[in-house]
Amino acid sequence: MAFFTVFGNPVAHSLSPQIHDAFAAQHGLGIRYLPSLTSAGQFRRAVSDFFYCGGAGANVTVPFKESAYELVTHLTTRAAKARAVNTLIPLGFGQLLGDNTDGIGLITDLRVNCHQQLNQRAVVLLGAGGAARGALYALLEQPVTSVTVVNRTLERAQQLVEDTQDSRVTACAFDALAIPTGALVINATSISLSDKSGTALLPIEASELAKATCAYDMMYGAKPTVFMQQAQNAEVNDVFDGLGMLVEQAAVAFKLWHDLERVNTQQVIEQLRSQLKG
Ligand code: ATR
Repeated sequence: MAFFTVFGNPVAHSLSPQIHDAFAAQHGLGIRYLPSLTSAGQFRRAVSDFFYCGGAGANVTVPFKESAYELVTHLTTRAAKARAVNTLIPLGFGQLLGDNTDGIGLITDLRVNCHQQLNQRAVVLLGAGGAARGALYALLEQPVTSVTVVNRTLERAQQLVEDTQDSRVTACAFDALAIPTGALVINATSISLSDKSGTALLPIEASELAKATCAYDMMYGAKPTVFMQQAQNAEVNDVFDGLGMLVEQAAVAFKLWHDLERVNTQQVIEQLRSQLKG
């Protein structure tokens, strides 16, 4: 039986094993997918041991996506741009291909599950860390009109803009943010993780946020995130969390590992949603 894992820390609550088991069940495949808790010091060893023992594929989650980018022998173009790897594919003879399916997972979720138009759309991307970087490059593959990268540390946003070399992208501080009417606002900050009280708001006035027609948080949870509540209070039309993105990025990894074309992601999203609501 083929076996798979997700490396992370913490990783016990990762939904990846359940998602991949559900996809495998759709195809009548028997797989074994278990989480691997590892440390920064042990990560490289854990990955090489896993594949040495015949592992068929692995996911990588927080905080090891950048370390995975450093250790693979081959990178897909999108992983090279994101400078982060979330999917490992063994090529044999100790060679590992690193891919990043997060960006395409975001785009698929936005377009297919959230019914968002990206053609001629103005996008505001909150954050300039690793998650924002992957999202930005995926967004720039789409015919969006503009992407405004907004970050607490402005220099980081400016650096990200410079790296893209794309005239559609600009950087901005929160206090200078003017949201284009009808924009799609994506939260790629880790505010809900960094703020232990779980109540910290992003510094955007409700009157400004109200100009957006869609607010999307790349995080998810049992209840709406603080950013989603901010958007709901500002009466933004469509408000979504990142559960669909998680399932869609997993679907891309699943297809790569198993060389299969179709998985029913809707079914898995619904299953996880009702489980999260408890
Ligand atoms: P990740 O890989 O999840 O993107 P990261 O690279 O550490 O993690 O980036 C975290 C992002 O969340 C950054 O954009 C960070 O802003 P700074 O660059 O100014 O640090 C943002 N972030 C985290 N906590 C935040 C908070 N309380 N308010 C606003 N932005 C925050």
